[in-house]
Amino acid sequence: MELKNALFSPNSIIRTPTFRTKGSITFAYSFAFIFLACTIIFLFGNSHVHQSSSQWFKNVIKNRSQLSSYFPHHNHLSQQNLSRAKDSVFNPELNQSRVSSNGSRNATLSEGKSTAAKKKKKKKRWVELMSKCDVFDGKWVRDNSPPFYEPGSCPFIDESFNCYLNGRPDTGYEKLRWQPNHCNVPRFDGGKMLRFLKGKRIVYVGDSLNRNMYESMVCLLRNSVKDKSRVFEASGKQEFKKEGTYSFLFPDYNVSVEYIRSAFLVQEWEMPIENGSTKETLRLDRVEKSYDLYKDADVLVFNTGNWWTHEKTSEGKGYYQEGDHVHEKLDVVEAFDKAMSTWARWVESNVDPKKTRVFFRGYSFSHFSKGEWNSGGRCDSREPIKDAKDLLSIEELSPPIPQMLDKSMEKLKSPVVYLNVTRMTNYRSDAHPSVYRKPNATVQEKRLFETHQDCSHWCLPGVPDTWNQLLFAQLVLSQRQTQQT
Ligand SMILES: *[C@@H]1O[C@H](CO)[C@@H](O)[C@H](O)[C@H]1NC(C)=O
Ligand SMILES: *[C@@H]1O[C@H](CO)[C@@H](O)[C@H](O)[C@H]1NC(C)=O
Ligand SMILES: *[C@@H]1O[C@H](CO)[C@@H](O)[C@H](O)[C@H]1NC(C)=O
Ligand SMILES: *[C@@H]1O[C@H](CO)[C@@H](O)[C@H](O)[C@H]1NC(C)=O
Ligand SMILES: *[C@@H]1O[C@H](CO)[C@@H](O)[C@H](O)[C@H]1NC(C)=O
Ligand SMILES: *[C@@H]1O[C@H](CO)[C@@H](O)[C@H](O)[C@H]1NC(C)=O
Ligand SMILES: *[C@@H]1O[C@H](CO)[C@@H](O)[C@H](O)[C@H]1NC(C)=O
Ligand SMILES: *[C@@H]1O[C@H](CO)[C@@H](O)[C@H](O)[C@H]1NC(C)=O
Ligand SMILES: *[C@@H]1O[C@H](CO)[C@@H](O)[C@H](O)[C@H]1NC(C)=O
Repeated sequence: MELKNALFSPNSIIRTPTFRTKGSITFAYSFAFIFLACTIIFLFGNSHVHQSSSQWFKNVIKNRSQLSSYFPHHNHLSQQNLSRAKDSVFNPELNQSRVSSNGSRNATLSEGKSTAAKKKKKKKRWVELMSKCDVFDGKWVRDNSPPFYEPGSCPFIDESFNCYLNGRPDTGYEKLRWQPNHCNVPRFDGGKMLRFLKGKRIVYVGDSLNRNMYESMVCLLRNSVKDKSRVFEASGKQEFKKEGTYSFLFPDYNVSVEYIRSAFLVQEWEMPIENGSTKETLRLDRVEKSYDLYKDADVLVFNTGNWWTHEKTSEGKGYYQEGDHVHEKLDVVEAFDKAMSTWARWVESNVDPKKTRVFFRGYSFSHFSKGEWNSGGRCDSREPIKDAKDLLSIEELSPPIPQMLDKSMEKLKSPVVYLNVTRMTNYRSDAHPSVYRKPNATVQEKRLFETHQDCSHWCLPGVPDTWNQLLFAQLVLSQRQTQQT
């Protein structure tokens, strides 16, 4: 939520035009208040979270045969590079601790053959395992591997996500790896991801938590590029928090990584009223106009969620619009369902599943405790939640966004991969920017940040890197499935 950053940084409130009218600033304030208040209520609940028994993508990949046809005409990898890729990126045994060896070069022919056969078998087993494995069912484990990118090294992170440069002294939050309970996922490999994306566009669409994830991807990829000066924002933007679109280019690979803000996925609207002024509504029946610009992207990553907790959306009085009709009152669960159906219809009729992989990133938890966003609510734990019984209760969220999302995902007709990060984010009370929101903060700002912590977004490097790692794992998986058919 840009909103909070805008509100919390005294000098950015004017510069960051997240909202169009004065009315919507009030809207924004009350939204943030309600949203954070809700979060706090959950915090004090300690009921158990449902065990996830679902398989990875159980509800989302409706037609497995379509998987094998992703990217068939857009793979610019040469045969030689492709075979290299087969042996490396898509090596199912690839793990956090892979070592290279020179030995196989000298192996005899027969040894070589049997090794290749063994490898093939292993890959096949891995594909079988992975396609059944719920990679979102797992735990965070300590891992001292070097970080995906050096803290503070990436210039394309929002100031407010750059915890290291903002003086956060502890580093434990960077050293946790997500370990699924029933399989291993490959470590993110930027070089391989770039080769995979060669000649392609990956576009993130959603709220500021998707911007968090998008910036993570830019940094993950940038870190693997030798000449880092050759990575740049297409229109020369230096600040990444403002409204609008962003596009980072990796010209050596002809890859573009883009972000478009769309907090509700459906369109925020100005409805003309009798006396000549307008009224803010949400058009449940249309997606944002800008969607035309990226229906041809090769990878799309959507999200929506936290904005539906706002007063206007959760109360639903005279806010939701379909056609010319503004609903006097509409329940948020129903409105959300309508909006998600509108989005799903857009995907079904505009996105070619043979060209474009569609991901939907699920609900990301906030962790305000001992107060609200504007009354000292804090997230200064430096350790993640250890015991599942201490996790925040999903059932008590109001509205119950994760369940609303689950339902929408079940109804999808086109193949969309659901990145179900609800539970993995629930554990990470340690990984929000908290008070580390600005570099070289003045005494006054520091005092303000003490009472106005950011417990919604994530530090980078941090949790969104793992979301991207799982996205990468899914691409690896479908690539391997393609190769086997
Ligand atoms: C997503 O994860 C949550 C928490 O683990 C689980 O309750 C839910 O069933 C999952 N949703 C889907 C669609 O798999
Ligand atoms: C699955 O995809 C195949 C090939 O694209 C198509 O022939 C078939 O009708 C699809 N099935 C469903 C249920 O969509
Ligand atoms: C293989 O990929 C690298 C890096 O993407 C590229 O520089 C090289 O030209 C490619 N080789 C071939 C034979 O296409
Ligand atoms: C993969 O990782 C697991 C757990 O981190 C480790 O036990 C295992 O030895 C690793 N496998 C390989 C092939 O490196
Ligand atoms: C691989 O070979 C190179 C050169 O022949 C050598 O420098 C290197 O130490 C070898 N690595 C291993 C792991 O044996
Ligand atoms: C590979 O084989 C050659 C010739 O048989 C031998 O000279 C060389 O030492 C071997 N290298 C390794 C790494 O075993
Ligand atoms: C770069 O990729 C785009 C598709 O994203 C393609 O239209 C264009 O021709 C490519 N340019 C080069 C130089 O390969
Ligand atoms: C029009 O009506 C709305 C409420 O119905 C009111 O808030 C607004 O001030 C009015 N605008 C003008 C120009 O009278
Ligand atoms: C913060 O202060 C340090 C040391 O005084 C300086 O090097 C750095 O550029 C400053 N950062 C910002 C963003 O002003």
